Amino acid sequence: MNQNKPVAVVTGGARGIGEAVARRLAHEGFAVAVLDLDAEAAEPVVAAIRETGQSAVAVGVDVTDEVSVEAAIAQVEKELGPPIVLVNNAGITRDDLLHKLNAESWDTVLAVHLRGAFLVSRAVQRHMTTARWGRIVNLSSVSALGNRGQANYSAAKAGIQGFTKTLALELGRFGVTVNAVAPGFIVTDMTRATAERVGLTFDEFTERAIREVPVQRAGQPEDVASAVAYFVREDASYVSGQVLYVAGGPRS
Ligand code: NAI
Repeated sequence: MNQNKPVAVVTGGARGIGEAVARRLAHEGFAVAVLDLDAEAAEPVVAAIRETGQSAVAVGVDVTDEVSVEAAIAQVEKELGPPIVLVNNAGITRDDLLHKLNAESWDTVLAVHLRGAFLVSRAVQRHMTTARWGRIVNLSSVSALGNRGQANYSAAKAGIQGFTKTLALELGRFGVTVNAVAPGFIVTDMTRATAERVGLTFDEFTERAIREVPVQRAGQPEDVASAVAYFVREDASYVSGQVLYVAGGPRS
């Protein structure tokens, strides 16, 4: 394994947007740590990256668990080297209208998105400040602007925007930029599950979503990965604390 490559960590990298981001960052020359709930789920992504001649490792983590996060980042450092790029992508939905939304669904969604992004960022920042260079990219969503049935998720994704701006203020002096990408409708297991919840086939759901999208197509995980890749670039070093909507239009 090439120890000299800069190291990137992608949480929730086993599938969907996280997988596309992991592959893209490997393509950009990073050794990539693919973190997900269990390492086994991330293995196919790691194998695909290795096939292209790049370095990658699969690491199991629950981003809501402080001990698990510290152990995962220590493992990344041992196996690949100190991470200087972090993409906080792990996420879940537990949708329901307010009157039916239970407290557990509220807590779980906020824990994965907000507590998770906090714990992993805190664990990784020391390597970035030591290197005096770093990039953090957080996954927000158009749902941050409000979305029926997603009080918990939209609160979490709006929270991510505040978190992003605060970290940008705190870490800028160390050469670390912190930005957020806020996707609209992207074809992944998450949107497949939403289609099922609202009682539509995925094709019907996609067709309905596309009607609202100015560029008239569904987003793909690679659309998000390319926005992440922009923020990570060396020549994006004067862009920090920003939220980039990747939604085929001004929002979705
Ligand atoms: P996905 O459901 O396909 O993948 C999410 C990944 O996160 C899974 O591999 C899952 O195992 C992992 N994960 C969940 N909880 C975890 C935990 N506690 N610890 C570690 N890993 C965990 O989701 P998708 O669609 O790829 O979404 C990725 C991110 O993009 C999420 O933050 C999501 O909220 C956000 N997003 C997605 C949009 C979409 O249309 N698909 C739109 C806007 C934002």
